[in-house]
Amino acid sequence: MPTEQFEGTAQKMAAFKAGAGTVLFFEDQTVVEKLQANFAAYADNFPIWSNQSSGMLQHVVWTALAEAGVGASLQHYNPLIDEEVKSTWELPAKWKLIAQMPFGGIVTAPGEKEFQPVEDRVRVFK
Ligand SMILES: Cc1cc2nc3c(=O)[nH]c(=O)nc-3n(C[C@H](O)[C@H](O)[C@H](O)COP(=O)(O)O)c2cc1C
Repeated sequence: MPTEQFEGTAQKMAAFKAGAGTVLFFEDQTVVEKLQANFAAYADNFPIWSNQSSGMLQHVVWTALAEAGVGASLQHYNPLIDEEVKSTWELPAKWKLIAQMPFGGIVTAPGEKEFQPVEDRVRVFK
């Protein structure tokens, strides 16, 4: 991280620290590697499917937090923080950090968001 860009990051990190906590999402690479060894024809896909599984998990956790009235965001400071996270919480070496989800009280409502026309993104064939 270049020094001149760090101020913005420092402000964001202070906001995360003021929240209630952070969910850390990992994928156990021993499982991924075992599947790669057992199903060689699909070996290249298991890391991709592992990431997709984590994305699904992140989505349901985020939805559960939202339903409980808790605000959350998704952050990716990995891989910069991987080793420190693992040593701080004494986690298995093969757990790969995928994403971080800080959560807490909702201070301000999210701003308006623009979306591309759905017709450009979804095709229906009958
Ligand atoms: C898959 C995904 C990855 C994201 N990764 C980051 C990230 O690394 N850093 C960040 O500041 N925001 C990231 N965000 C955005 C924020 O978490 C954002 O608060 C959240 O998506 C809500 O805003 P939105 O409705 O504009 O998506 C990510 C969002 C998604 C959906």
